[in-house]
Amino acid sequence: MKSIQLDKFGIENLKITNTQKPVPGPNEVLVKIEAASLNYLDLMVINGQYNPELPLPHVPCSDGSGWVESTGSDVTLWKKGDRVTTHFIQHWISGSKTQQAFLSRTGLEKPGVLSEYILIHETALVRTPDILSAEEASTLPIAALTAWAGLFEYARIKPGQTVLTQGSGGVSIFALQLAKAAGARVIAISGSPAKLEKLRALGADEVIDYRKTPDWHVEARRLTGSHGVDAILDVVGTDTLTKSIYALKADGFIGLTGNLSGAVVPFNIYDTVPSNATLRGISVGSIENFQALLKAINTVKLKPVIDTVFPIDKIHEAYRYMQQGTFFGKIVIRIE
Ligand SMILES: NC(=O)c1ccc[n+]([C@@H]2O[C@H](COP(=O)([O-])OP(=O)(O)OC[C@H]3O[C@@H](n4cnc5c(N)ncnc54)[C@H](OP(=O)(O)O)[C@@H]3O)[C@@H](O)[C@H]2O)c1
Repeated sequence: MKSIQLDKFGIENLKITNTQKPVPGPNEVLVKIEAASLNYLDLMVINGQYNPELPLPHVPCSDGSGWVESTGSDVTLWKKGDRVTTHFIQHWISGSKTQQAFLSRTGLEKPGVLSEYILIHETALVRTPDILSAEEASTLPIAALTAWAGLFEYARIKPGQTVLTQGSGGVSIFALQLAKAAGARVIAISGSPAKLEKLRALGADEVIDYRKTPDWHVEARRLTGSHGVDAILDVVGTDTLTKSIYALKADGFIGLTGNLSGAVVPFNIYDTVPSNATLRGISVGSIENFQALLKAINTVKLKPVIDTVFPIDKIHEAYRYMQQGTFFGKIVIRIE
């Protein structure tokens, strides 16, 4: 079978290799992968920024979708032909995440999905919604689940509340779509006028250009009659966290999600104490959370926003396109 392997860090070192098609153990499923999608994490992994000690060679990429080719002798959950999508933290089934479960991530501790076939434990798969293609479903495991967990498992967003989204990448666009579907108001910030228009077309009630309006937190407060917003999934980190705190209403929620500009933030606790804000770390979600997300997707018929689908032999272009940051939504790889 065809697989993409990284034997040295760097996009240029991704290679197409031919390996033996694996055979499932008792509780494993052999999945024919049809599509994979890229997250910012994948870029950090490939460039050696996420874990410079990652054992190489490595099959990269965390999120994939396809169908069941065969099952191990003890598998009860799946049968040949079922359409399935992979879960990121494979052994996090429900409740609080243990460190042991955390270290079972697809594309990190476990092999990734840039392969014609993968082996995966039967409990680390979800059923692909009928309304979604494999390309669309491949965008869900990290980006959509993070947005879902942040807004609905933790912030517990209600109709009429206000959510602020940052930029037009995977997590933030799913946050916008899910928040709108739940009847919330969305203020979206982006650094590109063209993307602001697209965010509006997706349902954003208000948009702010963070390049033209660097004090976007002041504008966000103004747009909420000085009350502040109810929830923000902060995907940027160093450049935004303090502003996110200022944009928040009393008792508001910040999901500490990403580090697009860096992970270290000079922090004055008295910026937070007076507003009684909750700052909560987010690490994607459990299988139980994923199933709740799928119910919502099926109910509201949510369609992921895909920017471009690349064939597998254009894998270097796909990662470079992600690195440029000009995309809107998700980048998908078609695996034939
Ligand atoms: N904790 C978790 O569980 C979890 C899960 C998923 C992702 N993450 C993290 O969350 C972050 C986003 O991930 P992703 O995959 O959604 O990223 P992505 O798809 O690569 O998103 C990139 C977009 O973010 C926007 N952006 C960049 N710098 C910005 C800034 N200074 N202010 C506002 N927006 C900015 C840009 O949008 P515009 O061009 O529109 O400005 C850019 O297109 C990453 O750091 C990732 O590692 C964490």
